[in-house]
Amino acid sequence: MECFTISKLLFLLLVPVISISTCMAGDVGSYMIHMDKSAMPMTFSSHHDWYMSTLSSISSPDGSLPTHLYTYNHVLDGFSAVLSKAHLDQLEKMPGHLATYPDSFGRLHTTHSPKFLGLEKNSGAWPEGKVGEDMIIGILDTGVWPESESFRDKGMGPVPKRWRGACESGVEFNSSYCNRKLIGARSFSKGLKGRGLNVSAPPHDYDSPRDFHGHGTHTSSTAAGSPVRGANYFGYAEGTAIGISPKARVAMYKVIFLSDLRDDDAAASDTLAGMDQAIADGVDLMSLSLGFEETTFEQNPIAVGAFSAMEKGVFVSCSAGNSGPDAYTMFNGAPWITTIGAGTIDRDYAADVKLGNGILTVRGKSVYPENLLISNISLYFGYGNRSKELCEYGALDPEDVAGKIVFCDIPESGGIQSYEVGRVEATGAIFSSDSQNSFWPSYFDMPSVAVSPMDGDLVKEYIIKSQNPVVDIKFQITVLGAKPAPQVAEFSSRGPGSRAPMILKPDVLAPGVHILAAWAPNRAIQPIRDEYLLSEYALLSGTSMASPHAVGVAALLKAAHPDWSPAAIRSAMMTTAYMLDNTQGPIMDMTTGVAGTPLDFGAGHINPNMAMDPGLVYDIEAQDYINFLCGLNYTSKQIKIITRRSKFSCDQANLDLNYPSFMVLLNNTNTTSYTFKRVLTNVENTYSVYQASVKQPSGMKVTVLPSTVSFTGRYSKAEFNMTVEINLGDAGPESDYIGNYGYLTWREVNGTHVVRSPIVSAVAPYIRT
Ligand SMILES: *[C@@H]1O[C@H](CO)[C@@H](O)[C@H](O)[C@H]1NC(C)=O
Ligand SMILES: *[C@@H]1O[C@H](CO)[C@@H](O)[C@H](O)[C@H]1NC(C)=O
Ligand SMILES: *[C@@H]1O[C@H](CO)[C@@H](O)[C@H](O)[C@H]1NC(C)=O
Ligand SMILES: *[C@@H]1O[C@H](CO)[C@@H](O)[C@H](O)[C@H]1NC(C)=O
Ligand SMILES: *[C@@H]1O[C@H](CO)[C@@H](O)[C@H](O)[C@H]1NC(C)=O
Ligand SMILES: *[C@@H]1O[C@H](CO)[C@@H](O)[C@H](O)[C@H]1NC(C)=O
Ligand SMILES: *[C@@H]1O[C@H](CO)[C@@H](O)[C@H](O)[C@H]1NC(C)=O
Ligand SMILES: *[C@@H]1O[C@H](CO)[C@@H](O)[C@H](O)[C@H]1NC(C)=O
Ligand SMILES: *[C@@H]1O[C@H](CO)[C@@H](O)[C@H](O)[C@H]1NC(C)=O
Repeated sequence: MECFTISKLLFLLLVPVISISTCMAGDVGSYMIHMDKSAMPMTFSSHHDWYMSTLSSISSPDGSLPTHLYTYNHVLDGFSAVLSKAHLDQLEKMPGHLATYPDSFGRLHTTHSPKFLGLEKNSGAWPEGKVGEDMIIGILDTGVWPESESFRDKGMGPVPKRWRGACESGVEFNSSYCNRKLIGARSFSKGLKGRGLNVSAPPHDYDSPRDFHGHGTHTSSTAAGSPVRGANYFGYAEGTAIGISPKARVAMYKVIFLSDLRDDDAAASDTLAGMDQAIADGVDLMSLSLGFEETTFEQNPIAVGAFSAMEKGVFVSCSAGNSGPDAYTMFNGAPWITTIGAGTIDRDYAADVKLGNGILTVRGKSVYPENLLISNISLYFGYGNRSKELCEYGALDPEDVAGKIVFCDIPESGGIQSYEVGRVEATGAIFSSDSQNSFWPSYFDMPSVAVSPMDGDLVKEYIIKSQNPVVDIKFQITVLGAKPAPQVAEFSSRGPGSRAPMILKPDVLAPGVHILAAWAPNRAIQPIRDEYLLSEYALLSGTSMASPHAVGVAALLKAAHPDWSPAAIRSAMMTTAYMLDNTQGPIMDMTTGVAGTPLDFGAGHINPNMAMDPGLVYDIEAQDYINFLCGLNYTSKQIKIITRRSKFSCDQANLDLNYPSFMVLLNNTNTTSYTFKRVLTNVENTYSVYQASVKQPSGMKVTVLPSTVSFTGRYSKAEFNMTVEINLGDAGPESDYIGNYGYLTWREVNGTHVVRSPIVSAVAPYIRT
C-alpha cells in the first residue's frame, strides 16, 4: 500500500530540513507579497479589498491572471499569490509594495517522559499548572488522527468561551470529529497546490486536517494527550501514555503534506496562513516541529509569524533541527522563539544476548518489534576476509550467512550495515558500535541488537575461540532508570545560531529520543520481512519530539501564571534548567561521550517543577527585539516586514538583549572585554535579596556589579552589569575557547530561589543581514 519506504520515512523525521526556494514550471511561481498598510488608499474598506484590487489590476501579455492564495492579517501585512514574471514586475511598481519573496519550503524536524520530567499528580507543576486546563495549544504540523484515544475528552470541561477556532471538514475529516480535547483542526495547502503538487487523497496525503504521516498526531499528543493506559510500541515502553499538559486543548493547523513530487513539504505561504489563523483563533501557545532555511529573519516564515505571536502574548516553541552534531547547525534561532534541543530520557529498549550455553550474557539496544525466541542459532563473523569492511554493502555472501546471526563490528550508526544483513537474508545481527545509542527504530527491521564496542569485543572473542559459536537473543526488554540520562542527542542541532550568534541557542533541552506517543494507525511504522507493521503508538526521535514537550511545560507555566510574557516563561525554563545528569555528572554529548556545553544543551535540561517558581525572570518586550534588529543593522524595510510597523526608531539600537544566558563572541581581537547589562524582575510577592556568584569559565574573568540586588515586591526590578574579560594573546588561539563555559547564579538570601544563567564563548559565524 505504501509509496514510501520506511527508511525514507525515518530519514524525513530525523534529517534536517534544507529548504529550497523553487519556482514552478515556466516563469510562474508562488510569492509572499509584503505591503505597507499605511499606504492603503482611503477608498478601500479593508486591506483584503485593497490587495485584491491590486492583483486584479495586473495582467500578463498572454492574458493570464494572478491567483490569490492567502491574505494575512496578523503575521504580516500582505498576501500570497501565484504570479508570472510579468505580474511580478507590475506588482513591484504598485503603491504600498514593500517586498516580494518567492515562497520557500521547509520540512519536518523529525510515555514516560512526564515522569522523567518529574511531573506528579499531587505536587509540583501538574497541580500548580492545573494540568494545563484551559490552555489552548496550536500545533503546526502534518494534521491529526482524531480517533486516537489520546484525543478523548473524558473529564474535560467546556471549550473556553474565548475560542474562535473551527473544525474544518475535508477529505476523510468531518467537523464533528473535534471534541473538548481536540477543539480545532484546519488545513492549509494552497501554497503547495499552487506549486502544482497533488495532496488530494492517499497516497498523496489527505487534503484535510487528517494526519497522513503520523508526525502531527505524535507531536500533539506529546504536548497535550489525554492519558491512555496500556499504550506501547510492540511490547516496548508499555505504560500510560500521557501528554505533558494533559488537560490543555489541542488545535491542529495542518501545514505539512506528503506530496507526490517531493517528500514532506511545508510552504512558507501555508505555514504563515496557519500561524495567522492560530493567532486569530486565540491559541495561547504554538509549537512548530519544522524548519525553513535560516535566512535573515524577514525571509523566514516562522520567524516572521512568531514575532506577531510574541507581541500578542502567544508563546512559540520550535525544534532546533536535526542537523547536529556540528556547530552552527541551528534552525529557528530568532531570539523571540524558544528553541528546543533534544535529549535522551532514562528509558531504554534492550535485548539480551546470551553466548554459547550461557557462559556470558551482554545487554544491547533494540526495538525489534516481535516477541521472537532466538535460541541456539549459529553466529557468523567473517573475520578472515578484509577485502571489504564487514557488513558494508556487498560484503556478505548469502550462502555464508543463511540461518545465522551475523556479527558486525562497525564504526558508525549502522544504516548501511543493517541494510546489508537484510539483503543477504541472515536470520539476524549483532552490531558492535560506538553509536549504539543512535540506532534509529527503522534499523531494527530484523532480529538485531546493537552492543557497545566493549561488549562487542567479548562477542568477537567468543566467536574466535569457539568451534561452533551459538547465541540466544531475548527481545522486548524495557529498561527504566537508564544511566546516564539525559544526554544530548547526536542529531540535535548545535549553536550558535548563524543569524544572531550573540544569543545562545538552543535555549533548553527537552526529551526527544525514543518518545512514545500516538500515531496514525494506518501508517506503516516498521517494516518486518516484507510486511509493514501498524501501531497506534510509535517511538520516534528528533527535535520534533522535544518542542511539544517544551510547549506542554509552557502551558503549565502559563496556566499558573497567566500574566507572564513569552520571554518570562522562557526565562523561567532556562534559569531553572539542570546541567547534571542522573549520575550527578555534567550532561554528556552522546556524540563524544564527554561533557556537553551550552552550545549543545543551552541553559540545560527543562525542569517543569522548578520552572513554576523561578523567583526572578529576565523579561523582554517587543521594543527590545526591535532594538536588537537595529543593532544587527537590519534595514528599515527588513524591520518593517518583521514587525509590521510603518514607523519605528533605531535610536536605541542594542545587541545586548535582556536574555537569560550570556554569549561571549571571540572575534578578531586578542584582549576582549564584554559588558552585559541585564534587568531582573521579581515574580514573587515578597521583599527579597539576591546575591550573585559566578562559576568562572576557564580563561575568562567575570565580575558582576552590583553583586547584591534587592526587590521590594512583585514585578519590582533590579539592574546589574556583568563584565567578562579574556586575554586571548596570553592564552592561545580562539579555538581553545569555543564552548568554554561557566555560570552566573543569583541566590536568594534566606530563601530558596536559585536563578542560573550559562556564560559561554564561541566564535561567531560571519553575520549576513
Ligand atoms: C459529519 O458527521 C455527521 C454526524 O456523524 C453527519 O451527520 C454528517 O453528514 C457528516 N458530514 C459530512 C460532510 O460527512
Ligand atoms: C491526485 O491524486 C489522487 C490520488 O491518487 C488522484 O485520484 C487524482 O486524480 C490526482 N489528481 C491530479 C490532479 O493529478
Ligand atoms: C544446538 O544446536 C545443535 C545443532 O545445531 C545441537 O546439536 C545442540 O544440541 C543444540 N543445543 C541445545 C542446547 O539445544
Ligand atoms: C572474501 O575475499 C574474496 C577475495 O579475496 C572475495 O572474492 C569474497 O567475496 C570475499 N568474501 C566476503 C564475504 O567478503
Ligand atoms: C553594524 O554597523 C556598524 C556600523 O557600520 C558596525 O560597527 C557594526 O559592527 C555592525 N554590526 C553588526 C552586528 O554587524
Ligand atoms: C552599568 O554600566 C553602565 C556603564 O556602562 C552604567 O551607566 C550603569 O550605571 C551600570 N549599572 C549598574 C547597575 O551598575
Ligand atoms: C594576538 O596575540 C598573538 C600572540 O601574542 C599575536 O601573534 C597576534 O598578532 C595578536 N593579534 C592581534 C590582533 O593583536
Ligand atoms: C537573613 O537572615 C539573617 C538571620 O536571620 C538576618 O540576620 C539577615 O538580616 C537576613 N537577611 C536578609 C536579606 O533578609
Ligand atoms: C569570526 O571569526 C571567524 C574566524 O575565526 C570568521 O569566520 C567569522 O566571519 C568572524 N565573524 C564575524 C562576525 O566577524
